[in-house]
Amino acid sequence: MELIRGAEQMHAAALQARSQGRRIGFVPTMGALHEGHLSLIRIARAQCNWVAVSIFVNPLQFGPNEDLARYPRTFERDCRLLEAEGVQVLFAPTVEEMYPAASKTIVEVQELSQRLCGASRPGHFRGVTTVVAKLFNIVRPEVAVFGQKDAAQVAVIRRMVGDLNFDVQIAVGPIVRDRDGLAMSSRNRYLDAAERKAASVLYRALLRAQQMADRGERSAAVLVEAARSVVAEEPSARLDYIEAVNPETLEPVHDVTGGTLLAIAAYFGATRLIDNVLLFAGNSRAGAG
Ligand code: PAF
Repeated sequence: MELIRGAEQMHAAALQARSQGRRIGFVPTMGALHEGHLSLIRIARAQCNWVAVSIFVNPLQFGPNEDLARYPRTFERDCRLLEAEGVQVLFAPTVEEMYPAASKTIVEVQELSQRLCGASRPGHFRGVTTVVAKLFNIVRPEVAVFGQKDAAQVAVIRRMVGDLNFDVQIAVGPIVRDRDGLAMSSRNRYLDAAERKAASVLYRALLRAQQMADRGERSAAVLVEAARSVVAEEPSARLDYIEAVNPETLEPVHDVTGGTLLAIAAYFGATRLIDNVLLFAGNSRAGAG
């Protein structure tokens, strides 16, 4: 695996791979890799014969009181995992490389960026779309793979790709869960033992709504309330939001129809975790892509 720090070098390597007829798959990450990331890399690998992964803790997508400084950084271990996955290139730029002092441009998807996590983390999705647009221009992938756990991020990125005519196919990998259902996340590392135990309530809440939808409940309000009451059984959980929305527009829905995103965010101690499930009329699939 080649480690590249410079944007120009990364771009040149990608152009060379393309000129050799390689199909470029790309998985952008912020490092602290876990099974969820590795599953995305395997999706890229299945569709492409040249896979690039980026590790960049993007300051633009963190709010002033968020966890930028303490975000887990496990670079050596990440490199070993990526080597083992047969990744061709790791792009790991510095902040100065991605955001030179003269840089003045941001990319923002209006409206969608204010919904779900965008409402409680102002500026977050603007930071995501700005860095992902830059990464797409640098890496020029044919396929870019994102995780369904960040379902709102997927919606925002798809909209950006459509609106700005990016020539990239967006693939989405299903949520990878621990044995008790907790969705894998780099932020799970922050949890102490009690918080880790409590955090499994998120999946139980989603499952309750999913089971009710499977049995025919269509009212989004009823399903949201059912999930909320499960979270309330865990006193240490502090709910940020739970919403039933259209997975493309992220607009709230009244009724569950052909695929409604039930998304949840909650704090366990200082750690904010998110999860979601897709609900289908008469049948639902947890973490479906
Ligand atoms: O999902 C993430 O890890 C980040 O939001 C991403 C897509 C790598 C952009 O920084």
